[in-house]
Amino acid sequence: MYRDIYQDWQDNPQAFWQNQAARLSWDTPPTTIFESDASGDRWYVDGVMNTCFNCVDRHVADGHGDRIAFIHDSPLTDSVAKLTYADLLDRVELVAGVLAHHGVEKGDRVLIYMPMISETAIASLACARLGAVHSIVFGGFAAAELATRIDDAKPKLILAASCGLEPGRTIAYKPLLDGAMQLATHKPSACIIFQRPEAEAALVAGRDYAWQDEEAKARAQNNRPPCVPVLATDPLYILYTSGTTGVPKGVVRDTGGHLVSLAWAMENIYTIGAGDVFWSASDFGWVVGHSFILYGPLCVGATSVIYEGKPIGTPDAGAFWRVIAEHKVKALFTAPTAFRAIKKQDPEGKRVADYDLSHFKTLYLAGERVDPDTINWAEAALKVPVIDNWWQTETGWPICANPLGIEALPIKKGSPAVAMPGYALAVLGEDGTPVAATQTGAIVLKLPLPPGCLPGLWQNQAGFEDAYLKDYPGYYKTGDAGFLDEDGYLYVMSRTDDIINVAGHRLSTGGMEEVLAGHPDIAECAVMGVKDQLKGELPLGLLVFNDGVNGPDDEIIQQCIQKVRDEIGPVASFKLATRVARLPKTRSGKILRATLRKIANGEDWNMPATIDDPIILDEISERLLALGYPQNR
Ligand code: COA
Ligand code: AMP
Repeated sequence: MYRDIYQDWQDNPQAFWQNQAARLSWDTPPTTIFESDASGDRWYVDGVMNTCFNCVDRHVADGHGDRIAFIHDSPLTDSVAKLTYADLLDRVELVAGVLAHHGVEKGDRVLIYMPMISETAIASLACARLGAVHSIVFGGFAAAELATRIDDAKPKLILAASCGLEPGRTIAYKPLLDGAMQLATHKPSACIIFQRPEAEAALVAGRDYAWQDEEAKARAQNNRPPCVPVLATDPLYILYTSGTTGVPKGVVRDTGGHLVSLAWAMENIYTIGAGDVFWSASDFGWVVGHSFILYGPLCVGATSVIYEGKPIGTPDAGAFWRVIAEHKVKALFTAPTAFRAIKKQDPEGKRVADYDLSHFKTLYLAGERVDPDTINWAEAALKVPVIDNWWQTETGWPICANPLGIEALPIKKGSPAVAMPGYALAVLGEDGTPVAATQTGAIVLKLPLPPGCLPGLWQNQAGFEDAYLKDYPGYYKTGDAGFLDEDGYLYVMSRTDDIINVAGHRLSTGGMEEVLAGHPDIAECAVMGVKDQLKGELPLGLLVFNDGVNGPDDEIIQQCIQKVRDEIGPVASFKLATRVARLPKTRSGKILRATLRKIANGEDWNMPATIDDPIILDEISERLLALGYPQNR
């Protein structure tokens, strides 16, 4: 039972995590399970292993080479391709050979800028094979964001595809990559480009190499490096995520704790084991893709679907049911926004009847607050349990979930259920002490964090302490606010910082403000999240023009919108902006963002006692009304 297992962990956390480590194959099994010193908390400190070995080689060695590792299903290229574990091992060995040929060694960073194709997984596993540290950048980010990551991670090599595909358009990656390489101070020694037929890239002689040619050379030379054993505490990857400023945070994932936590989660939360088909409809560029398209399913020997398409429009609202039926998917994991998109086009869920979903057992939703409407619709349409789970890039695996692999706890809609073993939840009030059940406060986790969670930020220990540890001594700050009910079910209600969640994508409004403030006609601005029926939230910008700038307003606003798209990327979905004469501030000069957000969302608000001039709020309300906010008045 869940309570017993949670209690087991509470009674002896080290014994609990030592037992879980036995799920994996170690070159040297760990004997020191946990250590904490001035440099931080670390799990399995003397353990030695290799992630690629655990995810690929060992399944082949155990006689499961014929089992399917990946199904690449791409409605955008109208193709389906399957890769067995033996095929995967063959390709990963060769790509590791290519990396080694280009000088990549243990500890070197490799940046991966690639779309939803099998080669993205192969590239990551090849890095893991050599003990190199990969950093995958989502394709919807623009050149400047890519450049920031190049300068922070300082990769020796970049692996990219020639293009990504969105419905109706092909996104050439090479111009974005070239732009980023120009902007970045750090210069990687080479780029290996996977040429896709939809848009082949022109290569720069002496710097760019065609992946296919390099892989063919490695095959001809039988250049197949073995797995390099690394310490459990060595980094496997860096994943950049939005923080409270425009500078993204490089979340580090270690080797041992990461795989142990995922192996535990696959069985106990997602009920997936060897031979089962799991589909995580996300992107390799997000943590969901890292944990549950790539490493989680592979470490337990399951089959993982790599989907290059959308929930709607590729070709219709039955796309998800087609994939589930065709590949006999046992469990699907996606963001609620995907279901809102399907529901909008097929409100009665009629398309479900066109497919045989008899193998489908559970739907998992995460990435943003799961609204009860979406759960009700999904339950009625699919007739399977809908399981909310709450976590973040930093933790790498669910903090709260309903652990179906242990027992199905009662579902309370609107709550991602209870804390998983390893996590001690608390909700703190403004004075930093725990509040009573049902009272809202800051959601924190008692230190130490369990295996799998970030040991720190890439070469930025001070930033790590500042962002997560400083505010509540002894706890990790999640940045989310909410409450616990009497049964220990958590309700995650909002963020305590300027992070917004757009279509399950985590974005910083501070980052957008920095870009807008760089427009020559903008004096100051405020960006906030407004509610959206499809994407959950959308960013909305209030722009104060410089004195003497007389428009035309629309032209400047359009330039501002384009600037965010060019500098952050289309993924920001920044399309709502309006000119305002001035912004409301406290007497000490702080913009009253929380009040603005409440007005735009039609929520109750009180006049802040510290406001310098209350009339400004009337002016802004008028501008927001003209833009259609608040909606559904
Ligand atoms: N490369 C380049 N551009 C991308 C991209 C990528 N990998 N992913 C998205 N974009 C673009 C989109 O084309 C869109 O461009 P547009 O402004 O020209 O239309 C923009 O970025 C915003 O994308 P998105 O917010 O995803 O909106 P959408 O309208 O394309 O799709 C959904 C909306 C709901 C269908 C889609 O977000 C979805 O399927 N989400 C659920 C799954 C998921 O991704 N979850 C995230 C983590 S779990
Ligand atoms: P990311 O790091 O991109 O995965 O975003 C993590 C953030 O998304 C969390 O801190 C929450 O704010 C939000 N989030 C993720 N999953 C959930 C969920 N199930 N319920 C509510 N919010 C969620």
